[in-house]
Amino acid sequence: MALELRPATHADTPVLFAFQADPVASEMAAFPSRDRAAFEAHQRRILADPTVLLYAIVVGGKVVGSVVSWDAEGEHEVGYWLGRDFWGSGFATAAVRAFLEIDGRRPLFAYVAVHNEASQRVLRKAGFVEVRRRHADDVHQVVFRLDIPT
Ligand SMILES: CC(C)(COP(=O)(O)OP(=O)(O)OC[C@H]1O[C@@H](n2cnc3c(N)ncnc32)[C@H](O)[C@@H]1OP(=O)(O)O)[C@@H](O)C(=O)NCCC(=O)NCCS
Repeated sequence: MALELRPATHADTPVLFAFQADPVASEMAAFPSRDRAAFEAHQRRILADPTVLLYAIVVGGKVVGSVVSWDAEGEHEVGYWLGRDFWGSGFATAAVRAFLEIDGRRPLFAYVAVHNEASQRVLRKAGFVEVRRRHADDVHQVVFRLDIPT
């Protein structure tokens, strides 16, 4: 089924809230779920920020996840999150590849928990390389970097 990216809107907030509220996904990403109020405030903030690119991942008319880039401490970073019902179908791989055509800024960084093998695989397949490891916010992370234009 064809996968497409489109800019996310406030209408996507409820479904994206549910995806990040999943404890299994939260554990996988080593990223704590936000409660509804905190998540809605976060979405309002990033949707209003022109330096943040937030896209909904849409398959067969359904939002299956999101992919986002932002600036942090002088680095440009990418992240993504899919609903658990949609894991294991190649959607993250396809979404990240498509996003790299939309956001051409390089270098692009990604921080991934050491245990999150699926996410590391997504990045490696997109051309990211591991540059170092770090321990931050109680999480052992692999730092990935992409230099090549897509
Ligand atoms: C990580 C995540 C994005 C992967 O999404 P996905 O759509 O299932 O990924 P894909 O189907 O494109 O699979 C990517 C690769 O990981 C592999 N993979 C999938 N699940 C895996 C697992 N549990 N362990 C190891 N590898 C796994 C797949 O086989 C595939 O590799 P291959 O093409 O060599 O076979 C998704 O599970 C998710 O959103 N998790 C919660 C949030 C998160 O972790 N975000 C990333 C934070 S850095």
